[in-house]
Amino acid sequence: METSGQIFSVIGAGTMGLGIAQVAAQAGFQVVLYDSVEGAAEKGLEIINKRLQKLVEKGELEKSLAKSAGEKISVTHDLEGVAGSFFVIEAITEEREPKKALFQKLDRLCGASTILASNTSSIPITELASATRHPENVIGMHFMNPVPLMAGVEIIKSLKTSEETYRKTQQLAEKFSKQPVYSSDKAGFVVNRILMPLINEAIRVVEEETSTVEDVDNGAKYCLNHPLGPLALSDLIGNDTTHHILSVIEDELGERFKPASLLTRMVEAGLLGNKTGAGFYLWVDNKPQEVNGQLLNYLKQ
Ligand SMILES: NC(=O)c1ccc[n+]([C@@H]2O[C@H](COP(=O)([O-])OP(=O)(O)OC[C@H]3O[C@@H](n4cnc5c(N)ncnc54)[C@H](O)[C@@H]3O)[C@@H](O)[C@H]2O)c1
Repeated sequence: METSGQIFSVIGAGTMGLGIAQVAAQAGFQVVLYDSVEGAAEKGLEIINKRLQKLVEKGELEKSLAKSAGEKISVTHDLEGVAGSFFVIEAITEEREPKKALFQKLDRLCGASTILASNTSSIPITELASATRHPENVIGMHFMNPVPLMAGVEIIKSLKTSEETYRKTQQLAEKFSKQPVYSSDKAGFVVNRILMPLINEAIRVVEEETSTVEDVDNGAKYCLNHPLGPLALSDLIGNDTTHHILSVIEDELGERFKPASLLTRMVEAGLLGNKTGAGFYLWVDNKPQEVNGQLLNYLKQ
């Protein structure tokens, strides 16, 4: 796949958007980054440059490659800045209505051949595509967190995705050196159908005081060989995002995906995890430190 001169746009400069933008720039695309919150895309670009710098310091990336990747990313303050792209991926909040409104705007702005992708964790792609005049150009490309480190990407065709859109997205996954995982268009796809019940049950185990935050995560790490416990993982995903994903899957598949009450309370309290510095754990430099004392006090009541 030819990358030079091709514009790859990312909407949403949060946890996932930044990772996707970095990977696309490292693969050689010109990347345009947009976020509706003022200053978020600029701040995001600084974060990406720091991450590229860290890779250089660790000897994992040549200095010249880090520099050229950073220079390939530009920020736009206006959604119109993504108009000339061959591929646009959105990584905004996991909520139906804002995503559909965005797809409707992108459909008006972009050319009839631009592929519009969603990084949604759970929302059916056919539903998002229904907001556009070219549903054949809409596809799910669900990256994993942290994007530069995770080897897989889910690819989801809607009822109307064209073979050409599908093929080009497969080529893109190859260009990014990601193993594609295919799923049909059901809420939660494959990965979150498996992962979310684990996280939700882990939260319930803590909520009903069967065990502690540390022991639940240690159980997954030392007895199941998971690299990260489910509570630390939810903090890393963002507890708000975990809650949104469970709610979307619950809408389609029922009660068994109902978010645990403790998760709802934590989102209401702003304990979102890594992105706010506190969730099940207190977080410093993207790493979980000790268990959040405020949460422990709440659980003792
Ligand atoms: N966090 C994860 O581990 C993870 C993993 C895979 C997929 N996802 C999915 O990726 C998407 C983004 O998740 P995230 O964790 O990066 O969220 P996030 O909360 O970290 O970031 C979302 C960003 O989108 C911006 N935004 C919101 N509405 C917008 C709009 N209308 N236009 C432009 N920008 C807007 C916000 O300002 C924010 O910067 C979600 O669909 C989520 O389900 C998340």
